[in-house]
Amino acid sequence: MSDPLKIVAPILLLFVSNISIADEDSRRLVELPEMMQQHMMSNMRDHLRAINEILMNMENNRLDQAAEVAEYRLGMSSLESHGAHHMAKFMPEGMRQAGTSMHRAASRFALKAQEGEQLPAYGALSKITSACVACHSGYRIR
Ligand code: HEC
Repeated sequence: MSDPLKIVAPILLLFVSNISIADEDSRRLVELPEMMQQHMMSNMRDHLRAINEILMNMENNRLDQAAEVAEYRLGMSSLESHGAHHMAKFMPEGMRQAGTSMHRAASRFALKAQEGEQLPAYGALSKITSACVACHSGYRIR
C-alpha cells in the first residue's frame, strides 16, 4: 500500500496523456512525388466513402453488400486498384505495415459480415477504423 509508484504512476500517466493531446505534431513526414500524393489522397477519400457505405449497409442489415464494399474497396482485393504495390516502395516500414493491417482488417471484416451477425461485424469494422487511426497518428505526407 505504501508503494510510492501507486501514487506517482497515475499522475505521470495524466501528464503523458496531456502531452499527446497537445497541438504539437509528432507525425513523421513521408515525402512522396506530387503525382503519388494526389493518388494517395484520392484513395483516402474513397476509403472514407467506403467506410460510410459500409455503415449505411450495416444499418439496413445488408451485410453482404457491406462485405463487398469492404473487400473490394479496402480489403486485399483492392490492392491492385489502389496501386498499393507501387506506393509501398515510397513508404517507411511502419507505414507499410499500417497499410497492410488495414487491408487485412477489411478482408477479415468481409468474412465476419458474411456470417450475417451485426454485432460481431461492428466489432470487426472497428478494427478497420483503428488501422486508419493508427496510420494517421504516425504519418503525414505534407
Ligand atoms: C498507411 C497509412 C494510412 C492508412 C492505413 C489510412 N490512411 Fe488516410 N491518410 C494517410 C495520410 C498520410 C494522409 C495525409 C495526412 C496529411 O499529410 O495531412 C491521409 C489522409 C486521409 C484523408 C484526407 C483526404 C484529403 O483529401 O484531405 C482521409 C479522408 C483519410 N485519410 C481517410 C482514411 C480512412 C477512412 C482510412 C481507413 C479506412 C485511412 N485513411 C487509412 C495515411 C493512411
